[in-house]
Amino acid sequence: MHIPLYFAATHVDELTLRDQTVVVIDVLRAATTIAVALSNGAKEIIPVNTVERAVKISGSLFGDHILRGGERNGRLIEGFNLGNSPDEYTTEKVRGKAIIYSTTNGSGAIDKAKYGRNVLICSFVNMASVLRFLRTHKGDVTILCSGNNGRFSMEDSVCAGMLISRLVESEQDLDLSDAAQASLALFRSFGRSIPKMIRSSEHGQFLIQIGHEKDLDLCASVDCMDILPVLSGNVIRARKEADLIPSGNPVVRIE
Ligand code: MLT
Repeated sequence: MHIPLYFAATHVDELTLRDQTVVVIDVLRAATTIAVALSNGAKEIIPVNTVERAVKISGSLFGDHILRGGERNGRLIEGFNLGNSPDEYTTEKVRGKAIIYSTTNGSGAIDKAKYGRNVLICSFVNMASVLRFLRTHKGDVTILCSGNNGRFSMEDSVCAGMLISRLVESEQDLDLSDAAQASLALFRSFGRSIPKMIRSSEHGQFLIQIGHEKDLDLCASVDCMDILPVLSGNVIRARKEADLIPSGNPVVRIE
């Protein structure tokens, strides 16, 4: 199993990810919020790059079956129903709804992976579900950290390192890229206390400053949700492993 890794979504071209199994990581907070929304019964999440596109896509069904969620600079976007705190995505608000979702880094990173074979959304909260798929899948896995405005982010890189460390425990035949080895080393140095690592990260500090400190505890909770969010045809849904495409099989997409 070969494991290329990118420390920020801007470090790779979307065509490089074509037909790959891609794990997209955004610990603070997009991937965590997506896991919570789907666990609480959201029908689907549609990641979009721009606020304008979110408004356009939600169209006349907005507010009824469709909600707008996300953030810019960590804050609620004007005209949106939901910000990007995981605890806003309650069952009462999201059950049965489609959510048009736009964030500073995470939604763009997911969009980058849209030509992938299997695109899994991962954070600390649902890592066990992602690992279950990877252990049965056996093919190469590209890890795409969302990063922070094109830069390295500690929390995504340590999360990637934890994923790799768990794969190292169970797989014999791992071929780690230099970036994958670096992120494993980061996990071994900074992963002893995930809450502490997250609080001291740049984005963790920013979220504390703007009043979202309460989000950090959930984002730091490892394996607390059994959910596998998968992007297919520009839509993220909670998937069962049987729905995913084994490596080596031709990709047939039914939109
Ligand atoms: C992002 O996509 O950049 C994040 O989820 C930012 C945040 O809401 O903290």
